[in-house]
Amino acid sequence: MTDDVLVVHGGTPLHGQIRARGAKNLVPKAMVAALLGDTPSRLHDVPAIRDVEIVRGLLGLHGVRVTDGAEPCELVLDPTNIECASSDEINVHAGSSRIPILLCGPLLHRVGHAFIPDLGGCNIGGRPIDFHLGALREFGALVEKRAGGMDITSPNGLHGCKLSLPYPSVGATEQILLTAVMAEGVTELRNAAVEPEIIDLICVLQKMGAIIRVRTDRVIEIEGVRRLRGYSHRPIPDRIEVASWASAALATRGDVMIRGARQVDMMTFLNTFTSVGGAFEVDDRPGADGGIRFWHPGGELRAVVLETDVHPGFMTDWQQPMVVALTQAHGISIMHETVYERRLGYTDALNQMGATIQTYRECLGGTPCRFGRRNFRHSAVIAGPSKLYAADLVIPDLRAGFSHLIAAMAAAGTSRVYGVDLIKRGYEDFEAKMAALGARVERG
Ligand code: EPU
Repeated sequence: MTDDVLVVHGGTPLHGQIRARGAKNLVPKAMVAALLGDTPSRLHDVPAIRDVEIVRGLLGLHGVRVTDGAEPCELVLDPTNIECASSDEINVHAGSSRIPILLCGPLLHRVGHAFIPDLGGCNIGGRPIDFHLGALREFGALVEKRAGGMDITSPNGLHGCKLSLPYPSVGATEQILLTAVMAEGVTELRNAAVEPEIIDLICVLQKMGAIIRVRTDRVIEIEGVRRLRGYSHRPIPDRIEVASWASAALATRGDVMIRGARQVDMMTFLNTFTSVGGAFEVDDRPGADGGIRFWHPGGELRAVVLETDVHPGFMTDWQQPMVVALTQAHGISIMHETVYERRLGYTDALNQMGATIQTYRECLGGTPCRFGRRNFRHSAVIAGPSKLYAADLVIPDLRAGFSHLIAAMAAAGTSRVYGVDLIKRGYEDFEAKMAALGARVERG
């Protein structure tokens, strides 16, 4: 397994320019939406990441012809010969992703049956799918557990309904949108997630002919239609990738221009970046390529109190890279993780490198959350600044994995980071981008 190790010679500030592509948490879902159309769809600015490959394989199994378009990073998805796939084949292609659950509605509409394999994804909490299954049943689907997954059918069709999510789950909201757009009648969803990636998925569905109203109070109303056509869409940029490289610039005292980044998707992050003492500049000149430059302006960074939350709050996926930067801030910072119950385990590795981070079961920072009375270490206290030293690190999950890389780039000495291929799930060409920014890295 030596080729799954990255050797990082740390201590060099990142300098230079990279590009962020379409969002990892939108692109695979837009690919799934293509199943609903009766003509081909075109998706632009598709990142070369493993999650896209997994969905490409899954769609292929169901008879969707997925080919590279004429433009770079363009995919053409042709669903005209859609069919049922065998569950054994689906299991092989599902990989460690959570996307297969989102195929339910489209497959029920198009072929009347869906097999959903046991799901993968990062181990950052229980990650139940009860909201998804509850909603599908409300639409009239039958869900049967069987070895290796679930069989889902809709003998009497799918019908619009009134739903209310116990928590504004991104995945469950997407599930409901992808099912409701072609269900008979009207669906009303309360307490929906309204992340920019959800709004972008709604834009995709609207281009296909769907009728979806987003109200101000997390209520979404969907009028089912009988047919949808293909779409052509350029996704929103990956705001997690942007925040990850921005945090890397801060932690290494560097200066990074991220082409493709947009201010409107990053507002909450930019507020925090400024509070901590980072500097940024938006390039939105007419005719220009667009982007945001992030840099460490010198002097000391400042400690902050933060909590992760659903949109428009501070994203849970911004948490890990920002915590690495906070190890360099002067004073005591607090990070209260309220979206996933087990997303702070990676701080042990940072402590091994010289950081001073303690985790607590209590809700620190003011607002009580769902995890407060339970046995989860979901609040972190970060005392800084700490000099970081190189270490041997094993990547636990996607976002924590990238934060290990940031820590290794900021640390003095040579780190060996094991399991880096997991990062390919969500970060396009991360090794080439590190090198382009002057990080000294090589395969172990
Ligand atoms: N939840 C339930 N039951 C459900 C569904 C969710 O209890 O049926 C809970 C979860 O356990 C969690 C909370 O609701 O505590 C939020 O989960 P959500 O459903 O919003 O997350 P998701 O759709 O599984 C997506 C992203 C995550 C991102 C979250 C929150 C994708 C593929 N994944 O996950 O991204 O952190 O929304 O924004 O879109 C990542 O990119 O590394 C990643 C984990």
